[in-house]
Amino acid sequence: MLIAPSLLSCDFSKMGEEIARMDKAGADWMHLDVMDGHFVPNITFGAPVIKWVRPFTDKPFDVHLMISDPLRYIDDFADAGADIITLHIESDSDIDKTIEKIKNRGIKAGLVLKPKTPAEAVFPYLDKLDLVLIMTVEPGFGGQSFMADMMPKVRAVKEEITKRGLSVLIEADGGIGEATIAEVAEAGVDVSVAGTAVFKADDPSQAIKKLAAY
Ligand code: DX5
Ligand code: ZN
Repeated sequence: MLIAPSLLSCDFSKMGEEIARMDKAGADWMHLDVMDGHFVPNITFGAPVIKWVRPFTDKPFDVHLMISDPLRYIDDFADAGADIITLHIESDSDIDKTIEKIKNRGIKAGLVLKPKTPAEAVFPYLDKLDLVLIMTVEPGFGGQSFMADMMPKVRAVKEEITKRGLSVLIEADGGIGEATIAEVAEAGVDVSVAGTAVFKADDPSQAIKKLAAY
């Protein structure tokens, strides 16, 4: 299992050092939650902050856009150093155009599904994607409880990927930690986002190691 610590749970006054700390602790990717206070009821940070913290690691930057109009900002996040950009299928942007724009910038593209969005919603785009991110909490805040009832959705997406012979990764995000990682792994998730479970651990490197073993 690849582990992507969510910087949403870090100390924002020293985000660069926090990223370096996660790099040393064995994180595979850095998960950066961008929220606009419109698509979700919370505001975090945007491309300028990502650009400032980019030099603190060589690990991939996995940028999760929880914003209403992702298409408008793809160039900004590409310029800031994103390696993977995921946008919500429920956003207002033209999905095909946004995926195309991401790919044209040489970046990996992913679509994110909120808990109420069914697996089938992503099927028309699967062939163009590098990754599907399945939310296991309502997006907006860290520290929420894991929704185990999202696992059938993970399985349905996985089945479709296998059926078509694609190599699209499945990522899950929200409430993942020691108590829930086994279920996530069993359902077929390739990359797990973990905020609270890693940042609030006494020893983040041990926490990452335990999760990555699944
Ligand atoms: C929620 C974010 C998640 C969140 C995960 O909107 O997308 O990445 O920070 O945090 P935990 O692991 O604490 O649920
Ligand atoms: Zn996220």
